Amino acid sequence: MPETYQNYIKGRWAAARSGRVFENRNPANGELLGLFPDSGPEDVNDAVAAARAAFASWRVYPAPKRGEILFRFGQLLRERKDEIARLMTMEMGKVLKEAGGDVQEGIDMAFYMGGEGRRLFGFVTPVELPNKSGMAVRDPIGVVGVITPWNFPIAIPSWKILAALICGNTIVFKPAKDTPLCATKFVELLTEAGVPEGVVNLVHGSGPNVGMPIVQHPDVAVITFTGSNETGREVNVEAARRIKRVSLELGGKNAIMVMDDADLDLAVDGILWSAFGTSGQRCTAASRIIAHKAIRKELEERLVARAEALRLGDGLLPTTDVGPVINDAAIQRIDGYTQIARKEGAAVLTGGAIAREGALAKGSFYRPTLYSNVRPEMRVAQEEIFGPCASIIEVASLEEAIQVNNGVAYGLSSSLYTQDINRVQRAMRDVATGILYINAGTIGAEIQLPFGGTRGTGNGHREAGLGAIDTFTEWKSIYIDYSGTLQRAQIDSN
Ligand code: UN1
Repeated sequence: MPETYQNYIKGRWAAARSGRVFENRNPANGELLGLFPDSGPEDVNDAVAAARAAFASWRVYPAPKRGEILFRFGQLLRERKDEIARLMTMEMGKVLKEAGGDVQEGIDMAFYMGGEGRRLFGFVTPVELPNKSGMAVRDPIGVVGVITPWNFPIAIPSWKILAALICGNTIVFKPAKDTPLCATKFVELLTEAGVPEGVVNLVHGSGPNVGMPIVQHPDVAVITFTGSNETGREVNVEAARRIKRVSLELGGKNAIMVMDDADLDLAVDGILWSAFGTSGQRCTAASRIIAHKAIRKELEERLVARAEALRLGDGLLPTTDVGPVINDAAIQRIDGYTQIARKEGAAVLTGGAIAREGALAKGSFYRPTLYSNVRPEMRVAQEEIFGPCASIIEVASLEEAIQVNNGVAYGLSSSLYTQDINRVQRAMRDVATGILYINAGTIGAEIQLPFGGTRGTGNGHREAGLGAIDTFTEWKSIYIDYSGTLQRAQIDSN
């Protein structure tokens, strides 16, 4: 019998009220990993009530003390890193080393946000009248609904939950149905670290039955969501009806620009890693290679040779370079894009097929794929594929490269390979994405810098670093008049 896991509400582990469960399977071989509660709005109501009640004491619990809990959590996560990384590989397929990196982001975030407990800076500023002072402080907002995807099952919950917690908010957490086990471990460690009852609540289940009821609940003040644009739009609309703060982290169509003066060895390494790491299933993944015409052909040849040498397999095996994609539906969607590429007149240089030989037949594997002869307006150059597929687009100059780079509905991460400082400066000014890398690929953002993107990638909020503190606090401006007389503000005394 597979193990049955539970929700975590008001400090207690419990089944869904309906008693229903869903299965969690390994995408590398179909193995059943466990059963999880298929919850509904009634479970969401319980979780929100618990989070709301806990907010009263958590908001006034000293922030440095909240920080100490996060430090303990970071320490526990560090001790359990290897074990959780293994579970992650089994649950969503990324290779073990990358799974370790995902957990490491959680550790880094715990220590960063733990330290923030002794800062959470507001400011004091002069005011117009004598014997009066003015300051602005950050207030927690209330219950935060956290809805996370499966591709970074520890890192992304940590960006959201740890930041929201240090600011004094309480949490209702709905993880993706593909990665409920990592989410369960995450919450187990938070409780072990000393997070009080009701402060963090975990409700497993689907978007319609759990996610949407969280978004619609009148007592949930903030929604933080990472996922598809389609769902993000629905979340935004529902939140807007209730005038809720909502932070969206949505798709990407990230590009690596390679100029004629680039170090091609370096560029090839960066492209391989950014396009095929995590099987291309990062919102930061490079899915367009914008190549200067002088080096385009050589770059293609080198990329094809390297892509064909990548070994597909179970991410637990040390010989594996590229693991499975998340499930069969993803395989169908990704393969659909290869058909679209062909129909639009692109050439499939390598890959472009489901991998079925030997042990791969039991899992969801897609060959690392390069499309060439791609024009910027083609669907494979515009739409997020979220799989191991990259489109090569030829350009004649840096200006054209930046124009192509910016000419999509998303704006998350960009990269430029060049040795020319003037080109670097121009890219720094003109690239219209939330993240820009120079002489490095599009993936691998660090947690102390704001993370997020422009246009369709989000709605102006940023995760990680100080950006997250802005998302999870509300400014309160305070004036103290110690003159002992009625002093009218300048606007009222002319
Ligand atoms: C994501 O794919 O949703 O920059 C996040 C990176 C990682 C985070 C990716 N630190 O690649």
